[in-house]
Amino acid sequence: MSKQMWKGSTLMAPVPVMLVTCGDFQKPNIMTAAWTGIVCSDPPMAYVSVRRERLSHALISRTGTFALNLTTKELVKAADFCGVKSGREVDKIKHLGLSVSLGSNLCPLLDQSPVSLECCVVKKLELGVHDMFLAEIVAVHAEADLLDEDGKLHLERAGLIAYSHGDYVELGKTLGTFGYSVRKKERKKECKKEHEKEEKPVRRAAARRPLSKKRRTPKSGR
Ligand SMILES: Cc1cc2nc3c(=O)[nH]c(=O)nc-3n(C[C@H](O)[C@H](O)[C@H](O)COP(=O)(O)O)c2cc1C
Repeated sequence: MSKQMWKGSTLMAPVPVMLVTCGDFQKPNIMTAAWTGIVCSDPPMAYVSVRRERLSHALISRTGTFALNLTTKELVKAADFCGVKSGREVDKIKHLGLSVSLGSNLCPLLDQSPVSLECCVVKKLELGVHDMFLAEIVAVHAEADLLDEDGKLHLERAGLIAYSHGDYVELGKTLGTFGYSVRKKERKKECKKEHEKEEKPVRRAAARRPLSKKRRTPKSGR
């Protein structure tokens, strides 16, 4: 690779495209945010950076709450609309035929999103044109249809999207799972040992044997 050096900018991709709900039940609002993410596992914490002139900035500052609603391909047009129109000009939720329910901290949550993270602001950092709202995630609301009989959440079925260099993109195929690089090595080692023990004709038979479907999932240390 031969890289050119440019001046500092926000060129990071992909980034989330999140539908941020805020305000109250009487006057809920929704805006799209890409400058958002998780910043701590315990306590679970997130942030969203919002420009001071946005209606959402005034609402989050007033209530101290917001919700991060994961965006699906069904919501992609709504996400773009909520990112170019202000709640000052149009009631975006009504206009788009969306609806909200109240979370435990009385923050509006988007009904059409499969997962909503309810957040309570702990700090507002003035960074520059954006203020960063640092918040604790006090509750998670997950779509029951995405849970299997063991209660495992299948987010891969939700049709989630991301934002990459100006494009809204659907998430693609799984290339690995958490910790798979280590598991693969262990598996390779085991296979090598097995092969070393076996006689030549047996080794050919083993090569045709299908791999075990059993998958070990190590605990995430994130
Ligand atoms: C993909 C996308 C990402 C955006 N990310 C942010 C963001 O992280 N922070 C921000 O202040 N504005 C962001 N915006 C712009 C706001 O969503 C937009 O100004 C919106 O109209 C604000 O709505 P409001 O005035 O109702 O709060 C983004 C827009 C788009 C389309």
